[in-house]
Amino acid sequence: MGKGFYISKPLGFVLFGLGAGAVLTIFALSVVYVQEKRKNEVNARDGTRIVTTAAPHRTSAPSNEAWDKYRLPDALLPEYYNVTLWPRLVPDEEGMYIFTGKSGVVFTCLKETNLILIHSNELNFTLTSEMHHAKLTGLGGTSAPAILETWFQTQTQFMVIQLKRKLQVGKSYWLYTEFHGELSDNLGGFYRSEYTENDVKKVVATTQMQPTAARNVFPCFDEPSMKAVFHLTLLHPPGTVALSNGMELDNQEVLQTRFEPTEKMSTYLLAFVVSEFTNIRSPPEANILIRIWGRREAIESCQGDYALNVTFPILKYLENYYNTTYPLSKSDQIALPDFAAGAMENWGLVTYRELSLFYDPKVSSNEDKEWVVTVITHELAHMWFGNLVTMRWWNDLWLNEGFASYVSYLAADYVEPTWNIKDLMVQQQVQKAFDVDSLVSSHPLSSREDEVITPDQIDQLFDTITYSKGAAILRMLSEFLTESIFANGLHNYLHEYAYSNTVYTDLWKKLQEVNSSIQLPASINEIMNRWILQMGFPVVTIDTRTGSITQQHFLIHPEAVVDKPSDYNYEWFVPITWLKSGSNMGQHWLLTKTASYEPMKTDTDWLLANLNVTGYYRVNYDPQNWERLLTQLNSDHKVIPVLNRGQIIDDAFNLARADIINITLALRTTKYLYEEKEYIPWESAVRNLEYFFLMFDRTEVYGPLQVCLKAQPLFDHFKDITSNWTQKPPRYMDQYNQINAVSMACKTGVKGCSELTRMWYRQWMKNPDTNPFLFLFLNSYSANSVEFSDSVQASSSLSRYLEYSIDPNLIRKQDITYAIVYIADNVIGQPLVWDFVRANWEHITKDFDDGSFFSGGLINGITKKFSTEFELQQLQRFKEDIAASSFTFDMQAIERAIEQTKANIKWISENKAQVMNWLIEQSD
Ligand SMILES: *[C@@H]1O[C@H](CO)[C@@H](O)[C@H](O)[C@H]1NC(C)=O
Ligand SMILES: *[C@@H]1O[C@H](CO)[C@@H](O)[C@H](O)[C@H]1NC(C)=O
Ligand SMILES: *[C@@H]1O[C@H](CO)[C@@H](O)[C@H](O)[C@H]1NC(C)=O
Ligand SMILES: *[C@@H]1O[C@H](CO)[C@@H](O)[C@H](O)[C@H]1NC(C)=O
Ligand SMILES: *[C@@H]1O[C@H](CO)[C@@H](O)[C@H](O)[C@H]1NC(C)=O
Ligand SMILES: *[C@@H]1O[C@H](CO)[C@@H](O)[C@H](O)[C@H]1NC(C)=O
Ligand SMILES: *[C@@H]1O[C@H](CO)[C@@H](O)[C@H](O)[C@H]1NC(C)=O
Ligand SMILES: [Zn+2]
Repeated sequence: MGKGFYISKPLGFVLFGLGAGAVLTIFALSVVYVQEKRKNEVNARDGTRIVTTAAPHRTSAPSNEAWDKYRLPDALLPEYYNVTLWPRLVPDEEGMYIFTGKSGVVFTCLKETNLILIHSNELNFTLTSEMHHAKLTGLGGTSAPAILETWFQTQTQFMVIQLKRKLQVGKSYWLYTEFHGELSDNLGGFYRSEYTENDVKKVVATTQMQPTAARNVFPCFDEPSMKAVFHLTLLHPPGTVALSNGMELDNQEVLQTRFEPTEKMSTYLLAFVVSEFTNIRSPPEANILIRIWGRREAIESCQGDYALNVTFPILKYLENYYNTTYPLSKSDQIALPDFAAGAMENWGLVTYRELSLFYDPKVSSNEDKEWVVTVITHELAHMWFGNLVTMRWWNDLWLNEGFASYVSYLAADYVEPTWNIKDLMVQQQVQKAFDVDSLVSSHPLSSREDEVITPDQIDQLFDTITYSKGAAILRMLSEFLTESIFANGLHNYLHEYAYSNTVYTDLWKKLQEVNSSIQLPASINEIMNRWILQMGFPVVTIDTRTGSITQQHFLIHPEAVVDKPSDYNYEWFVPITWLKSGSNMGQHWLLTKTASYEPMKTDTDWLLANLNVTGYYRVNYDPQNWERLLTQLNSDHKVIPVLNRGQIIDDAFNLARADIINITLALRTTKYLYEEKEYIPWESAVRNLEYFFLMFDRTEVYGPLQVCLKAQPLFDHFKDITSNWTQKPPRYMDQYNQINAVSMACKTGVKGCSELTRMWYRQWMKNPDTNPFLFLFLNSYSANSVEFSDSVQASSSLSRYLEYSIDPNLIRKQDITYAIVYIADNVIGQPLVWDFVRANWEHITKDFDDGSFFSGGLINGITKKFSTEFELQQLQRFKEDIAASSFTFDMQAIERAIEQTKANIKWISENKAQVMNWLIEQSD
């Protein structure tokens, strides 16, 4: 799956300030949308009536019966499926949208058994002539045993078929069923998405199978290693087009489209869509058919052009990187109005949120464009890594997702070479992973196969550790092995395991085999196990007075107690790259807790470690070396690589939060920013100061903090290089940094800033198409308007918007979390939201297949400012209430929030006075 949560720069920017203004706009738009929707409700019925009997369902206390275990037994192996599905795009007499289906699977018996377990969830079956819910036939002259009994095991989501006698080893059978299910709007399985075009409501039937929803669409052996070929046929009304993983073969019967059989693949990668969408396609000279699909309006206004432009070069880049040709006959990418994740890598038919595939030069920002290209590269990277070769079980999900996240930057850099996009990996993946991985509630990248069993446990793996730490660790590996060896090993891995499944050690083995030139202190397996089998990462402390190097598990909260033992004792094999006073550089492996290394010793040069932050660790130094680094920054900062300027700030602030260095030292790393123009160090500072804003915006420190930031000349710098705001900054990263400059200036009251944004706002109101860059400031302008946040009215209208946010008629389900979090970012909104969520959380989560997917982001968004004992007690009481209920909720997220709140309380009590003093000294 593509990255789960997406908050665009404009929106993220609003989060940083006060969200109310933007919320108004969003709700205004949603209300219009709903009115349109209601106006055009068509009362069509298709009159189909399906006769079924209620299927016997069983729920039993966990026992040792095979059907009470979540994993499939290894007795049966599917070979291929024949599936015909018919989604109804209009509601039936009861007002329900449904689909009907017929499905058969050919499987081979590997071990003698009189039991067939096949996944099936929330489907209603038609009885066969023998009055069973399925029909079994022997193939190749074998006679099939008669069915004794069939039932549905609700908890483990199995259809259980007990046979009168045993299936024979080596023989194949055909299991056939007819069924129907609901085409609901829950964003999972076979679901519906709605939109309005020319005042007419349109319904799209689409799928999201990953990780465990294929079983909600037809009975299947729904585990990633149960790869099979799928022959699919879709029935659909005239005027609609049907798409799936394979190419359309024929649709001569008007209502029916048959697809070429898929490659041998996992169930979670299946996809099909019935819609009135239209497409644009690659020119004939491209040797792969590439089509971009979406709403007619969007495609006709060229919003798919950028995706089409980049897809062919991306596929070519990846073919070359993997040294493996694209395995399918076509590549479809489709943008859906309703979609839960960012995108999904279904093999041959990638599904996207509209925001992740469409780019409209008139209204989209740079960051939106970057998002589009990195999501496309992420999903296309999966076509090989994940789809052609798949993890054996979900416990190795990190390898799939970490890999796609890492490679997405390489491919994006290839298609947009002027952006320096690879540099953004440090902030977007490495430092992002540091943030969650420095908590004791973190977890190792890789889990044991038996630790991830239930669908909920599988869902919870789609987190920052899996994606971002996975990417950071693979980047480190590729850097110390060199990219050519890394890619070479990959090629062998893909070649050997094509169309089958692996565990992560298979990759290490292939990389080890091809490495003959890089000297490593241990096998790749031994080095990497320390990074993936234990949670967290080290802070490496270099004492340049003695040349000693030590490592220590880095925990952001100094008093946190690690209660999970590690086989590696929280020590790592750390590749330390270093640079001395701008000339002398090298690499050294730290393999023990403490070591001594002569070249690190110096009393005149500055020493800098972890060049370009290719290693997944933070660095601390002796006080003298810190002083020498600060001196260098303040005299000629350009001698230090730009990524490391960002690193120095980020490491210093985090070391200070962990009580390892003095907070004033961290603040001093920002002094040189007076001369800094680059985005990366600035972004590092802004990100870290965000914590100061969160903690202090309700205290007396806020004033001096603003005064200090106000003195920065960055706003004037951008005014100069844009000829008084009339031109775009030429470099891509500068365009990003311009946003930092203007937002900080407006936030701190720099002269001319509010006039500027007010002017942009007026221009935008007159003509919303004028300049997408201005669009950003619509949000910032209204978000920062004091009049709004001060008014008493604001509080009552925010309450009203909160009520709206859980009305599915007013806001798309996929956006509920964002909507609530926007409001929480407002100083007034935050307590309202907290009360609201505590009163309504059952309602908020119950509508979703996977409540935890939504609750995680929600809790973090709402509680990030918590810093009082009272708030801590409320949070603990909330946790008890939830624990006592039966709803799906991300409990880890609540644990994290409690841990964070405790740390915030402590941090404020220890640092407030020092921060205040330092800030006052600066303004003297
Ligand atoms: C499944 O469909 C394929 C392709 O249409 C067909 O060749 C095959 O005979 C079908 N299998 C069974 C068991 O009906
Ligand atoms: C399946 O059957 C159950 C029980 O009769 C019913 O509540 C449910 O609505 C049915 N689902 C569909 C999609 O018809
Ligand atoms: C797509 O490519 C065409 C031809 O190179 C170019 O004219 C057009 O501006 C590109 N569109 C986008 C959105 O990048
Ligand atoms: C690609 O793989 C082939 C063998 O499959 C090999 O001969 C060739 O050198 C490889 N090319 C690159 C660029 O690695
Ligand atoms: C560090 O990254 C920069 C790009 O930001 C690159 O030019 C430079 O070669 C890299 N340095 C090392 C030592 O890899
Ligand atoms: C941090 O440095 C400041 C100023 O140098 C000093 O007043 C303070 O005591 C130091 N704090 C700690 C915990 O060392
Ligand atoms: C810059 O733009 C502002 C607003 O349009 C205008 O008032 C000011 O005179 C301009 N300054 C210069 C030096 O062009
Ligand atoms: Zn992915």
